[in-house]
Amino acid sequence: MTGTGAPPFAVISGAQVQQALRGRERQITELVEDTYRLHGAGDSVNPPSYFLRFPDRPSARIIALPASIGGKVRVDGLKWISSFPENVAAGIPRASAVLILNDHDTGYPFACLESSIISATRTAASAALAADWLTRGRTRPARVGFFGTGLIARYIHTFLAGTGWSFDEIGVHDLSADSGAGFRGYLEETGTAGRITGYEDAEQLIRSSDLVVFATIAGEPHVSDLSWFEHNPVVLHVSLRDLAPEILLASTNLVDDVEHCLKASTSPHLAEQLTGGRDFLAGTLDDVMSGRVTVPAGRPVVFSPFGLGVLDLAVGKYVYDEVRSSGELHVIDDFFHELRRHAPGPA
Ligand SMILES: NC(=O)c1ccc[n+]([C@@H]2O[C@H](COP(=O)([O-])OP(=O)(O)OC[C@H]3O[C@@H](n4cnc5c(N)ncnc54)[C@H](O)[C@@H]3O)[C@@H](O)[C@H]2O)c1
Repeated sequence: MTGTGAPPFAVISGAQVQQALRGRERQITELVEDTYRLHGAGDSVNPPSYFLRFPDRPSARIIALPASIGGKVRVDGLKWISSFPENVAAGIPRASAVLILNDHDTGYPFACLESSIISATRTAASAALAADWLTRGRTRPARVGFFGTGLIARYIHTFLAGTGWSFDEIGVHDLSADSGAGFRGYLEETGTAGRITGYEDAEQLIRSSDLVVFATIAGEPHVSDLSWFEHNPVVLHVSLRDLAPEILLASTNLVDDVEHCLKASTSPHLAEQLTGGRDFLAGTLDDVMSGRVTVPAGRPVVFSPFGLGVLDLAVGKYVYDEVRSSGELHVIDDFFHELRRHAPGPA
């Protein structure tokens, strides 16, 4: 933000966000990789997320994710994201969100973006990035299983496909028959080549998948049988609370950020409480990407990403730049009005 006069403030709609991100799976996955590297190098500020919960609506929450990122992105901001699981029965998605971007030099907010799409996109890009790095050095999985098939599962599939993955077998498991059918419908519409199988039995889904994606809304572990993992799959544990700590203790565990992930009753947090330490963690995805950690064969691998605000900022700034360069930025005139310290603003 330079020059004089009122700093411009823009509002970017979900339609504009989707337009800016559509078909960009490779670029966004690279952007997420760069952002993890920047975060790993310390060129970010990413304090703990703040969870707002309600005694009268125990299943709901709104999370604040403040963050600051350096490098070429160089922006501060906040994602404010609600999760109201009952929305799904009412026909609208569980999560809704906005992202505020703040100028690095003045602190002025300069954009408010619809952010459920940005959030799903950065989550899916992170999952696709992890799938790539954590399967290097082993046979690339040709059988994927989706455990929980809502919006995030759909985005993860889109990002896997958009970054070059193809599967012979796609397994689908969800407690809700409607969700399972909706996801299968999406897969069929995309013309995916693999054979699609619905599994009522969770065990069969896991045993039939070398890459397993957890995207449920489980609040506590519901998968605890170690023998289901004896074929050593790579597990993208995106919903964070599905696996009993015993499964983690028998696996190689990677996270996005250690301090973030060992909070809020995630499965890694439960494993820390059970063992009284963090030895069960191999490191972060950035450790793997930078060669500091090697993923051994012969064990399941579990990636539990807490979801970092810096990713939202990086993807949000990408969207902002795209919309601005297309000339489609909707600036709200006079948003900041009181701009002279000792004189009243114009009438
Ligand atoms: N780690 C991250 O960065 C990150 C980011 C975004 C979302 N998430 C998480 O991803 C998850 C999925 O989000 P969504 O928007 O797709 O939700 P959603 O409500 O659209 O879908 C969740 C699906 O999981 C199913 N489900 C719930 N419990 C299940 C169980 N025990 N077994 C099988 N299926 C079950 C539901 O029926 C539903 O179809 C949420 O837990 C969310 O918090 C994580």
